[in-house]
Amino acid sequence: MGEIEKNGYPHYMLKEIYEQPEVIKQTLKGRLIPGSEKIVLDDIRLTQRDLDGVYRMVIVACGTSYHAGLAGKYLIERLAGIPVEVEIASEFRYRNPAVDKNSLVIVISQSGETADTLESMRKAKGKGVRAFAITNVAGSTIPSEADYSLYTCAGPEISVASTKAYTSQLTAIYLIALKLAYLKGGIDKDAYRQRVEAVNRLPGQAQRVLDCSQLMKDLAGEHKDIEKVVYLGRGLDYALALEGSLKLKETCYIHSAAYPAGEFRHGPIALVEEGLFVFLLATQDALIDKTLANLKEVKNRGAYVVALAKEGNREIGKLADRVIYIPDTLDEFTSVLAVIPLQLFAYYSAVARGRNVDKPRSLVKSVSD
Ligand code: AGP
Repeated sequence: MGEIEKNGYPHYMLKEIYEQPEVIKQTLKGRLIPGSEKIVLDDIRLTQRDLDGVYRMVIVACGTSYHAGLAGKYLIERLAGIPVEVEIASEFRYRNPAVDKNSLVIVISQSGETADTLESMRKAKGKGVRAFAITNVAGSTIPSEADYSLYTCAGPEISVASTKAYTSQLTAIYLIALKLAYLKGGIDKDAYRQRVEAVNRLPGQAQRVLDCSQLMKDLAGEHKDIEKVVYLGRGLDYALALEGSLKLKETCYIHSAAYPAGEFRHGPIALVEEGLFVFLLATQDALIDKTLANLKEVKNRGAYVVALAKEGNREIGKLADRVIYIPDTLDEFTSVLAVIPLQLFAYYSAVARGRNVDKPRSLVKSVSD
């Protein structure tokens, strides 16, 4: 039975990476109404009135879902102007969080069963806070107890390392952020329409990004003996750097770390030595000059730099050792495309190292207490 479910792929992880264009499309389906400006979040009836009393949002999750939550912070604050904090569930759960009826807690969980996330939601609800769940498994505990529930349409994710669930979470967050912006009037009609059109292009653009698969396989093969990797990015690229770093850790068992590129000089740059492998994420037009300066800093200290950038950014090609280009889209939505090369690098690195790709050591698909 397992071989049939892999549809000929050698591992579930690779199959699930390749399913992402369709998953993004399915997560958008029926929610972004063609020709309409409205976003429909299934049967969730969020109104302006519901939001009037919401002065802050708290996103609570673990692991990859936490990284999706970080992206949510950047997007909701930028598009809807609502303050957002992002909390690691295992920390939130054991604190006395200062949340109340004027807060809205968003919990993100692929499995819908992660104990720290579930108990965090229960703690918030116990303080009179409404809970909005983004999950992938219908009928799981978290959505059954949440006040609002939006499903990511990723289908069953078998590989322990989350890939398509992450991109479907990001897609769901794009919808929520745009819905909130529409309700709050956070952006003008043209800007809103431009963003809706950009989101609608993502499934086809994600399909195009998969063309870099052989390049990532070759890159992984050339560097199969590295034991340290640093991921750098600013803004949404920092949230993405964390996810790229986690993918490599959990599939290859090697030390990788992600830093805000602007923070690197405040200590971690001392890590840079000749040949250190650095992924520099440079998809944010608004931050590109500062990011290019960071690239020069690490190159000048001997690092081997692989950059991810939007098509058309020729400057970065003169500075980095390798550049992986992604299709041009708005800064808000690059992560769902730029994560694919990072997933493929982790996958092919794990294969090159003979790791148990779908069931890495010490890991389980859903962490219960
Ligand atoms: C990510 O690749 C891991 N599988 C892990 O970090 C996971 O994201 C985390 O345990 C949260 O799981 P959940 O989304 O099912 O709550």
